[in-house]
Amino acid sequence: MDSVEKNFERTLVTSALPYANGHIHLGHIAGAYLPADIYVRYLRLRGVKALYVGGSDEHGVPITLTALKEGVTPKEVIDRYHTANTAAFQRLGISYDIYGRTSWPLHVDTTQRFFKALDAGGYIHTEEMELWYSPQLERFLPDRYVKGTCPKCGYTDANGDECERCGAQYAAHELLSPRANIPGDASSPVLRKSRHWFLDLPKFEAPLKAWLDGHPEWRPNVKGIAYGWVNDLRSRCITRDTDWGVPIPVDDPDAENKRIYVWFDAPIGYVTNTRQWAQDKLRDANGWEIWWKDSGTRMIHFIGKDNVPFHAVIFPAMLMGQGDYILADNVVGNEYLNIFNRQTGKSEKGSKSRGNMISVRWAVDNLPVDAIRYYLCAIAPESKDSDFDWDEFMNRYNGELCDVVGNFVHRCLTMTVKNFAGRVPEAGELEAADKEMLDAIPRQMAAIAESLEGFKFRQAVERFIDLGRKANVYFDAAKPWVTRKTDMARTGATLYVCCQVVKALCFAMTPFMPGGAAALAATLNLALPNNGPDGGEDAWAAAVAPLPAGSALNAPQALFPKLDRERIAELAEAHRQGEAF
Ligand code: 2FM
Ligand code: ZN
Repeated sequence: MDSVEKNFERTLVTSALPYANGHIHLGHIAGAYLPADIYVRYLRLRGVKALYVGGSDEHGVPITLTALKEGVTPKEVIDRYHTANTAAFQRLGISYDIYGRTSWPLHVDTTQRFFKALDAGGYIHTEEMELWYSPQLERFLPDRYVKGTCPKCGYTDANGDECERCGAQYAAHELLSPRANIPGDASSPVLRKSRHWFLDLPKFEAPLKAWLDGHPEWRPNVKGIAYGWVNDLRSRCITRDTDWGVPIPVDDPDAENKRIYVWFDAPIGYVTNTRQWAQDKLRDANGWEIWWKDSGTRMIHFIGKDNVPFHAVIFPAMLMGQGDYILADNVVGNEYLNIFNRQTGKSEKGSKSRGNMISVRWAVDNLPVDAIRYYLCAIAPESKDSDFDWDEFMNRYNGELCDVVGNFVHRCLTMTVKNFAGRVPEAGELEAADKEMLDAIPRQMAAIAESLEGFKFRQAVERFIDLGRKANVYFDAAKPWVTRKTDMARTGATLYVCCQVVKALCFAMTPFMPGGAAALAATLNLALPNNGPDGGEDAWAAAVAPLPAGSALNAPQALFPKLDRERIAELAEAHRQGEAF
């Protein structure tokens, strides 16, 4: 816990606010939510003061376009998906302290304060732009409301100002063959002038560079994107021609039919949700400030790769422009989780049109939560894209979590309960192999902690399984099922050592598989701590303290039931048929 405890008093963890225009899926989970949750659960175990803030992103074209396509109001869209996604996160054990909404009235206040402070600091100006306009609907066509051909790569489904395929950004008038992307608009868009508000990003070049230079430890993928932007900073338009969003807080008739751009207000949602949490939980309207303005707070953002420019360049600039906010200490950006198609033998991007995405609601209806969490962590797309593959899912969960950890725990506890009247036996005389196994526990726990603190979640879960592997090797060599016929003292020593490993495994699995950990803790009569944002005892450190001889144990239950091959084949087929959303 060196990195956290030495320099900081508390940690604020955020994960990207997903748009409330669709169901959250496993690609989202692997990218931003599971790593954040594992990290926060680890911090809580360590007794660190940690606050985990998330919520729905409820403004912008993604919402209004969904509403238009469905023929309902934006409010109906956000209410439906905010409710569904709140439940999906809960069922997957994503343990937010608050899951808020950018449609909350408080968010208007927070966003407008940000805007006004930037304006007062001289970081905002207006410019007249030429934008696409629909003569039929008599409205401008922002962002994805207009499609056309990319002027750089020729992609024919490019957005109004950027191309999803090649990443190019361009002025609206550069888009070729524009067409309206709204149901019922058959007219050809025309260019029209509109005055907008811009954030002067170039003014933040020096402090942004200094801040990035101060963080050589960040993942190379995040740094690469961030430096790419900082070395080519331009003013960004932060308003749109729409009526869905936060009103622009200026006294100017041009602002009336415009709103603040969703990517300006979305990250401010982290602040709003912290404010709301402080009001609701602390009953203290100012209780949020220490989390955002005190240099003792360490802020960590967990995001998918496409969100890097906003969290590593634009939002930090917005925070710098406030004058009294802290900046993130790390921006943990992940690559993408793709879908492996066994029929074609190829990896596919998850997409709505392909129908190949797996929603969290479908996944938790059909699979054990710990199995989903284990596999997604084991294949986390940390440095490159990874694939969700049904066969690998079953083989890794069954072969690693069930066969290595679950099986060891079960063998140890069953034998102990049966042969030692449900109590941890006396250690008695320990031999070299026993001592070696006992010595491996703190070493392995330290290695897992090091991985978690370095945001290497894949490596952390491998090191956890490794402890189970070592324990199986020890158990098999000690053969307590043989020694119990001739030497109960030796058998007791072996099972004493095994119970110590089981205890450590219980704590070590808590961040990854909270369900299995809770069941195992109940068997061991251990209390897993329930630390909240106020922090508490360092239970992780206590995990290596021995479970005393004589401690009562309950009859063990299967922690991680095996997945059945036929059932997985059925689910894989349902997924292939597009029914997994
Ligand atoms: O990419 C997205 O889904 C965005 N809604 C993420 C926003 S993250 C933060 F800024 F709120
Ligand atoms: Zn392109």
